[in-house]
Amino acid sequence: MNVERAVQILRAGGVVAFPTETVYGLGGDATNPAAIARIFAAKGRPATNPLIVHVADIYAARRYATEWPETAQKLAEKFWPGPLTLVLPKSPAIVSGVTAGLHAVGLRVPQHPMALALLAAFDGPVAAPSANRSNRISPTTAQHVKDELGNAIDGVLDGGPCGVGIESTVLDLSTGTPALLRPGGVSREDIEAVIGPVTLGGAADARPAISPGQHPVHYAPLTPAWRVDDTARFASLLMRASSGAILLKTTDIGSVGVLPGVVFYLPAEPAAYAQQFYSTLRHLDAKGLANIYIELPPQDERWLAIRDRIVRATRALE
Ligand code: TXA
Ligand code: MG
Repeated sequence: MNVERAVQILRAGGVVAFPTETVYGLGGDATNPAAIARIFAAKGRPATNPLIVHVADIYAARRYATEWPETAQKLAEKFWPGPLTLVLPKSPAIVSGVTAGLHAVGLRVPQHPMALALLAAFDGPVAAPSANRSNRISPTTAQHVKDELGNAIDGVLDGGPCGVGIESTVLDLSTGTPALLRPGGVSREDIEAVIGPVTLGGAADARPAISPGQHPVHYAPLTPAWRVDDTARFASLLMRASSGAILLKTTDIGSVGVLPGVVFYLPAEPAAYAQQFYSTLRHLDAKGLANIYIELPPQDERWLAIRDRIVRATRALE
């Protein structure tokens, strides 16, 4: 499928998956209630969880926000196109289902040539959650989307593997103090360097007002998945691990010795780790293992978004 066909589908009220720099999104016309209903249905997503609206540039974003504070302008100039979603008072052009009835809308300009080509050609706002079933692992390749949503959608644009690999940062600018609702591709430090202090909100999709009753485990594999917050504990688990368990680790365990096929190493650098995290988890999940254990990376601002995703994908090992 190509961009031209994808635009036709969007115009006709259909839903089409497309690549962004973070993860693949499932797009529909944000001004068309029927298209929005199809997105929620395809994902099995609760109607209480709002969707991010994607636009081609700052000018388009300003059209769909009724207020555009100086902080929004500065952040957009600095980080768009890029993995930052700004939550701002919503224009009536965006149908209320998109924001789950909230008065504010999340807006973002993604940094992917195919996404930008689609948005420019469609010339309208595209609502797009991650293109996975609700509460499952976000897709970072077109094949992931086909495997999971297949016939439930009208097509997939293939733009190769996503470069960032985890979702955008969600920043609420609709109230007095800027609040980080979801850590992501742009760090809090980077944002604070532009607009000053940012408070840490709860994760957006954990806020009861937005999505009551949602399970705390999100982005989760089907295999029982556990997080391990202690290196010594992790090493002892490793000694006992059989082929029924897989461990995801950032750095080399060295002297402990490694059982082949049991330990998967991800890079000990946050950006590279993020890029591989979901696809590795998806790969391991398909193996039909007894357990997946994941070592939590250091408690450090640079790993904040990854720790957040690991915590949502796992239960703590007691
Ligand atoms: O990187 C991304 O953001 C990807 C790509 C496709 O752009 N999209 C994505 O969408 O991750 P989704 O629906 O999986 O996650 C959207 C997050 C949720 O946590 C949602 O609650 C929050 O953004 N959100 C969206 N609109 C909001 C709003 N108006 N107010 C507060 N939170 C909002
Ligand atoms: Mg998602």
